[in-house]
Amino acid sequence: TDLAQSGQLKGKRVLIRADLNVPQDEAGNITEDTRIRASMPAVQMCLDAGAAVMVTSHLGRPTEGQFKPEDSLAPVADRIAALLNRKVPLISDWVDGGFEVSPGEIVLLENCRLNVGEKKNSDELAKKIAALCDVYVNDAFGTAHRAEATTYGVAKFAPIACAGPLMAAELDALSRALASPKRPLVAIVAGSKVSSKLTILKALSEKVDELIVGGGIANTFMLAKGLPIGKSLAEPDLVDEAREIMELMEKRGAHVPIPEDVVVANELSPLARANRVAADQVAEDDMILDIGPKTAARLSIMLAHAGTIVWNGPLGVFEIDQFGGGTKMLAAAIAHSPAFSIAGGGDTLAAIAKYGIENQVDYISTGGGAFLEFLEGKTLPAFAVLAERAKD
Ligand code: 3PG
Repeated sequence: TDLAQSGQLKGKRVLIRADLNVPQDEAGNITEDTRIRASMPAVQMCLDAGAAVMVTSHLGRPTEGQFKPEDSLAPVADRIAALLNRKVPLISDWVDGGFEVSPGEIVLLENCRLNVGEKKNSDELAKKIAALCDVYVNDAFGTAHRAEATTYGVAKFAPIACAGPLMAAELDALSRALASPKRPLVAIVAGSKVSSKLTILKALSEKVDELIVGGGIANTFMLAKGLPIGKSLAEPDLVDEAREIMELMEKRGAHVPIPEDVVVANELSPLARANRVAADQVAEDDMILDIGPKTAARLSIMLAHAGTIVWNGPLGVFEIDQFGGGTKMLAAAIAHSPAFSIAGGGDTLAAIAKYGIENQVDYISTGGGAFLEFLEGKTLPAFAVLAERAKD
């Protein structure tokens, strides 16, 4: 932003690494374009500043060096053209240059993961790409947890390397939520498996005042409390880990609120009949598929009094309406809470869209894996290399 506003980008060749990795249906139509729209401010800013703009991104996980039509960014080029109302040529085989882009114009460089050496962060490839530009802008927060040629190597070799506005906004919001949060800090970590979120649970358990768990994760915590869970999804092997998290939190006056009632059914199906039962009354045949209304009401009060809320994961099987009550109620509580709220992760965004609270969550992250790794307390390599360059 500083470079653009101070006129330093005029006539410069600017390479923007964006995360335009968006979902597509079988026919190749983009089904959700949040990441593309979120990447446009950087592009527009550079175009307005008179730069010759090159944008690249990965799409999916193609085999390097083997172009297949389904790996092409062509649908993304069309969507950018529609959003910016201008032509967006798509350049293939671009690593060695040989294409034209004039100041005030934009080209999209084909799926960078097709280039041999991208995933392995080859220095040779990164140097070639860096030679294409005067300024490298990394705006791909969603890929910030990957050290690849276009997210890491180029940042080392480009004449100037900096973060774009989306990258900066994501890091600001996440730091506000976790580095210096207004308290109480309440995190919601839900999902089917403790094992896939154990590092996050542990990292957050050291920081938050309340750690709300849901889904299979909550079932494992219920087991650790000695509650019956019938045939619900859980990981008995991780009961000791769950117990340890609760004990450590309790020692410092923080909590994992365990559900006092749950919604159960005999099967996971849209036709299943849902029953509410007290948490100690789950029968052998029952599957817990949502938190109960009493629990949801208690957690909603907690969220209403929170200073900061971090949300990752739906509380129940919200895709089926009779098991979506808990997620719906908590989504409404987040929407109405005066707390600074931040949410991320694919399922969470789907829940936010289903309950229509997009405009009431303070920050919705475009990161999937990157958002989770930030919550784990990991350093994101793409950001670390930019921070190194900033010291130059
Ligand atoms: C994502 O969708 O999380 C990012 O675009 C990263 O994609 P990757 O997991 O294929 O690296």
